Amino acid sequence: MMSNLHVANLELAGAAALDFSAWALAKQARIEQVLGLVLPPENSAPHKLHSAMRYSALGGGKRVRALLCYAASELCETEMSVADAIAGAVELIHAYSLVHDDMPCMDDDDLRRGKPSCHKQYDDATALLVGDALQSLAFEMLAQPDLCAEAAHQISMLNMLAKASGSTGMAGGQAIDLDSVGKMLTQTELETMHHLKTGALIKAAVLLGAVASSAEKITALRIYASNIGLAFQVIDDILDVEADTSILGKTAGKDADSNKPTFVSLLGLQPAKQYAQQLYENAISALAPFGDSALRLRELAGFITQRNF
Ligand code: IPE
Ligand code: IPE
Ligand code: MG
Ligand code: MG
Ligand code: MG
Repeated sequence: MMSNLHVANLELAGAAALDFSAWALAKQARIEQVLGLVLPPENSAPHKLHSAMRYSALGGGKRVRALLCYAASELCETEMSVADAIAGAVELIHAYSLVHDDMPCMDDDDLRRGKPSCHKQYDDATALLVGDALQSLAFEMLAQPDLCAEAAHQISMLNMLAKASGSTGMAGGQAIDLDSVGKMLTQTELETMHHLKTGALIKAAVLLGAVASSAEKITALRIYASNIGLAFQVIDDILDVEADTSILGKTAGKDADSNKPTFVSLLGLQPAKQYAQQLYENAISALAPFGDSALRLRELAGFITQRNF
């Protein structure tokens, strides 16, 4: 769970910072509880798999995607039970993607969220199954009978999450990432890869809670989400170069070591930071029609682009 200290690191100004910190901490505690209840207990068989699922999905991470789900759901006045299901499903897909991302056949990372990555703590086969099972559990959460008053809305959400995580979303982006090792990509190619591997799920986090909203609202949120989704991975690339392993909770310097094309390798550190700032401004502009009701989404855009972990 993110500490008070980490939230204080956001360096947002004055009272608004405190208010955002309090909101974020409450929602992080909430998603931890939601996931704790939905994940199978460790003492139920198969024990090793269930223990590894809980190890990988609980007790860590910034929970940015869940916070986006809750913020968009608040803006769209989506019921809390639906917001919980959306946030839980998105965080489970994300946790699965991290478990697989760290495996030796992908990024081969030993450290995740400040502890040994799943395949190190358990083994490769278990990590593979953890990813599979977390993904299934995500869809089970969102497919709960009677979750939504309108079945059509629920089917739209399931469709959206499936597309965001599949071969034309996150998994597709991961495929491009692996295929790009040692290659020099154009900025457009790099943007496409980042939009897919990271942006697609972040976009889903924002749009799932807006499924019952007007077309105008959804269009504005889509622009916001697309910009912060890309910005999230640009900052991840920057942090890989600039941050310490102890603060990141994952091994710093991995991208250069693995010869991955990133926004830093393509543009350089300073232009990559300016690019993230531009994406932040685009995202903020898209929220203009919502006025004060988009405060949390605005603050989250700030969090995503100013974070140091
Ligand atoms: C890391 O995501 C992987 C990317 C998509 C860049 P996060 O930085 O959100 O990871 P956690 O959930 O906080 O650990
Ligand atoms: C991971 O990107 C994206 C997904 C897991 C979908 P990275 O490989 O850059 O993420 P980190 O840096 O290992 O968290
Ligand atoms: Mg990766
Ligand atoms: Mg990785
Ligand atoms: Mg990275």
